[in-house]
Amino acid sequence: MASDFFEPGRHGDADAENGVTDFAVNVQPGPPEFVRAALAARLGDLAAYPTPADTERAVSLIADRHRRRPAEVLLLDGAAEGFELLARLAPAHIALIEPSFTEPERVLRATGARISRVVGEWPWRLDTAQVPDDADLVILGNPTNPTSVLHTREQIVALCRPGRLVVVDEAFADLTRDAGTGEREPQSLADALPAGVVVIRSVTKTFGLAGLRVGYLLAAPEVIARLVAGRRHWPLGTLALTGLAECVGPRGDRYADRLAGRIAADRDHLLALLTAAGIELCVEPAAPYVLIRVDDGLGMKAALRERGFGVRSCANFTGLGPDHLRIAVRSAEDSSALVAAMAQIAADRLLTVPGGL
Ligand SMILES: Cc1ncc(COP(=O)(O)O)c(C=O)c1O
Repeated sequence: MASDFFEPGRHGDADAENGVTDFAVNVQPGPPEFVRAALAARLGDLAAYPTPADTERAVSLIADRHRRRPAEVLLLDGAAEGFELLARLAPAHIALIEPSFTEPERVLRATGARISRVVGEWPWRLDTAQVPDDADLVILGNPTNPTSVLHTREQIVALCRPGRLVVVDEAFADLTRDAGTGEREPQSLADALPAGVVVIRSVTKTFGLAGLRVGYLLAAPEVIARLVAGRRHWPLGTLALTGLAECVGPRGDRYADRLAGRIAADRDHLLALLTAAGIELCVEPAAPYVLIRVDDGLGMKAALRERGFGVRSCANFTGLGPDHLRIAVRSAEDSSALVAAMAQIAADRLLTVPGGL
């Protein structure tokens, strides 16, 4: 039903039915072999509760990776759990920088806090003046899903105020690179962690582990203490702790580095194809997905589905509409097939529109 596309709880996985070439979900194929092997090696341990040693190992590898103290690391049952835990801070006024991932709003509505949607104008650069002064919790994505916009560290830090926490969802940061220098994670705040900033990170996208549910958060120890007050014991299972340690350790880091390079090349290919086909790209993308705008986006999506391609409708993102579609960066071959299908659909439309050429 077309109306489903506007439902806030709808995610890309709903657009990636079996049998379609999936451009809708931003999870990489995986997990890589070294992660699989590490997980398989722990199956025999599942009769026992997760051990403190497993937690400490994951925490210490994350701390090393970001040059933080272990006390600044909180392991999560998926980055998505981080948004849920924010409710324990009892915020009074939450500002959501839009367009952005829909889950923070969905889970934080239950707090009863006032929520302001700060809807930026294209090309969605951060504007501190738009954020209500009394917002004590500000949430944004960097790079942002689904626009693929990458804000600068300076723009984000400018949002900080006494009495306010700025939460940066860096779920896709590990695949970002500076287009000129190739430097990885050029705008991530995970290593600097300025006062008043909380960084939420995912490994499920890059390592193809969405089903494992694992992620982490970096914050000041006193913020972490408030986030975990009343949290259950054993929030992450043994396999989640094991998988996380592999992803954030040196081998995982090298893997993410190689993948970031490959995705940058595949994205360049996709952009060249879209440009040649005359398809409107919304902004220069920084993440492993691109946002486009087409006339009758839902019609285009349905026509692509008939040809075996799944793309993400952005109809349910605040500040976007049914003509916005998000396309995951895939192999050059798959991208060529997708864009050829889009061009064909657009050409067929011209023939069927009365007065079309
Ligand atoms: C921007 C963004 N943040 C966080 C998440 C949640 O990630 P995880 O699978 O680690 O819970 C997603 C998943 O779609 C996402 O797109």
